[in-house]
Amino acid sequence: MKVVHAASEMFPFVKTGGLADVCGSLFKSLASVGHEVSFFLPGYRKILESKEFEKAKLKVVLQVELGEQYLRGEVWELSLGRRQTLYIIRRDEFFDRTNLYGTRERDYDDNDRRYIYFCKAVVQAMRLLGIKADILHCHDWQAGLLPLFLRMEEQANSISLALKTFFSIHNLAFQGLFPQPSFELTNLPDEFNAIDGLEFYKQISMIKGGIFFADKIMTVSQNYAREILTPRFGCGLEGALKVREDDLVGIANGIDTEVWNPKTDPCLPFHYSAKDLSGKAKCKAALLEKLGLPVDASPVFGMVCRLTEQKGLDLLLRQLNFFAKEDCKLVLLGKGDPDYEKALKRWAKAHPNKVGLSIQLDEAMSHLVEAGSDFFLMPSIFEPCGLNQMYSQRYGTVPLVSGVGGLKDTVIDIVEDPESGTGIVFEPNDVAFRGALRAALKLFADKKRMAKVIANGMGRDFSWKRVTAEYEALYRDSI
Ligand code: ADP
Ligand code: GLC
Repeated sequence: MKVVHAASEMFPFVKTGGLADVCGSLFKSLASVGHEVSFFLPGYRKILESKEFEKAKLKVVLQVELGEQYLRGEVWELSLGRRQTLYIIRRDEFFDRTNLYGTRERDYDDNDRRYIYFCKAVVQAMRLLGIKADILHCHDWQAGLLPLFLRMEEQANSISLALKTFFSIHNLAFQGLFPQPSFELTNLPDEFNAIDGLEFYKQISMIKGGIFFADKIMTVSQNYAREILTPRFGCGLEGALKVREDDLVGIANGIDTEVWNPKTDPCLPFHYSAKDLSGKAKCKAALLEKLGLPVDASPVFGMVCRLTEQKGLDLLLRQLNFFAKEDCKLVLLGKGDPDYEKALKRWAKAHPNKVGLSIQLDEAMSHLVEAGSDFFLMPSIFEPCGLNQMYSQRYGTVPLVSGVGGLKDTVIDIVEDPESGTGIVFEPNDVAFRGALRAALKLFADKKRMAKVIANGMGRDFSWKRVTAEYEALYRDSI
């Protein structure tokens, strides 16, 4: 099949979160099983400055209608090996910036222009490049308007650009909401500025474009696909999603088992396997040393995440007593909300021998935290899929996760299933979280049981191979 993907992030080119990992893996794995895959990304500074971009070729020049203006753009092509082509939509005014979506204080105020432009540019590029796809697969709100623009472009030019469109929701909490006047930038007929179109409580919602106008809607775990039909997780879109329920499918993400392999991981100072965990103990010592913590045998709880409400930072910050009193340590790598950063810094200052903090985005460090921790914390309030709980199991680190979204689908609770359990699952509230932390200490003290849980986790298959087969089947069935 000819498959075209469009998203705002793709590992290793640009990443702020799991969207990038998933797009990178899907791109690679679909090509590896024989499909011809193209990927459209905005030309962010990080890409333009990358070594790979030196090999990119300018393919076509665009004239994109954006409200009352026509804006120039360029499509650069970069071949990434057999059957994998990356297309970069270049308009430096919009994308040649240090950050992707905004500064620390606030989102860029032209994000409506930037991503409406991106969606229109992809459609025009497909037409000018003569790409006729079987599947156009768009991810998250930044690409939300693509399915609709595609059909409009086809109609206007009496051509076919893609047989079927797919829209993946990686996180419903990010919707691409803009004030009403932004609708003008779409140049769409007014009928689309309605409740069964892009209108959302007197605003314009880019994610609604994907929800209403894609042929299939996907999300990144089966549990999240059920959850988003309810008010607790639907972020106000549960009604719209209900309308499309028959076309909504959840497939849990996989992980890149080449990048995340404790036997070969170049980010680790020592390597290990399920058979011989001695390298893991050395990674633990290296991690503690790096963060200036005493190197001893007490259990280490690791955490790596964007510092946002979603990730359960409030729950964590209410457990200060636990980490202060119990014989254990907390290691946290994260960046985000300045208030959380401040609170964590105060913590680390007050307990320099117990709390190790790294406030930054650091890919290599995230691998070391996974390898060097005994337990991994994900007390998320909601979690469409989550990747770190899978990295953790592969790295012999026992995940403690709240029982929401994909966390529930990918971690086997040791209480519910003592034989094959791989982690501790709890409800996202203070009492249950405290209970889970205590259960972890108990497990750590029982060396034999701990070894069994680690072995169970390391033995699981989270590879994209299996997941890709599910995507393929869905694509095939739809055309
Ligand atoms: P989300 O996409 O909601 O942030 P996921 O669990 O799907 O959550 O993916 C997060 C990805 O981002 C993981 O690969 C994680 O290791 C990485 N990550 C998050 N914060 C950091 C950080 N501060 N430094 C390095 N990697 C990070
Ligand atoms: C989102 C979600 C996360 C998911 C990732 C990749 O960022 O928050 O749970 O794993 O997308 O699909």
